[in-house]
Amino acid sequence: MDNDRTKRGIVIEDDWPGYSLDLFTYPEHYHTDIECVYIPHGVIMDRIERLARYVMQDFGDNNIMVLCVLKGGYKFCSDLVESIKNDQSTEDLHIIGSRDLSFLRGKSVLIVEAIVDTGKTMKALLKHVETFEPKMVKVAGLLVKRVPHMAEGLTDYVGFEIPNHFVVGYALDYNEYFRDLNHICVISKTGKLKYKV
Ligand code: HPA
Ligand code: MG
Repeated sequence: MDNDRTKRGIVIEDDWPGYSLDLFTYPEHYHTDIECVYIPHGVIMDRIERLARYVMQDFGDNNIMVLCVLKGGYKFCSDLVESIKNDQSTEDLHIIGSRDLSFLRGKSVLIVEAIVDTGKTMKALLKHVETFEPKMVKVAGLLVKRVPHMAEGLTDYVGFEIPNHFVVGYALDYNEYFRDLNHICVISKTGKLKYKV
């Protein structure tokens, strides 16, 4: 059960056009910069609640050490932690940066990342974390991208599996823009040009 419960998350197919911008609200200054609302904020939040449930089932009574991969992961991480906290004593949760990780020894660790594609970064991070001999390590990824050589089985809790599009919003940026957008959106050609560095 543990293994097939929606391992790929909510699968968004290649032909999903997203929602027309007119159907939602978003910061007006991005009007021409985004193509569509790809995943509405409310759906993200609902999915996160479910991921929090999986996490709590797996970690049980163990204290959860949360490792958040910044900056793109900060909204996902704070919303996921919030959902977990609603059901678990806050004392059991620790948010940590990436200083000295030697205190991870014997601990149950949850790595939280916004996007996993080839998994190169995540594999390196996992390897690093494992040198500190934690009791267990799990990975939560809000989005897993279908790219050539995508990382299979690396992410334990997947929010959404998406096509190979560049997405922004919900803390995901394009050259530091769009982090203030609530929904996950597809950037437009105009947007790409406008915020190009
Ligand atoms: N959006 C923002 N940042 C990213 C993406 C993306 O689609 N993929 C990798 N980093
Ligand atoms: Mg970025």
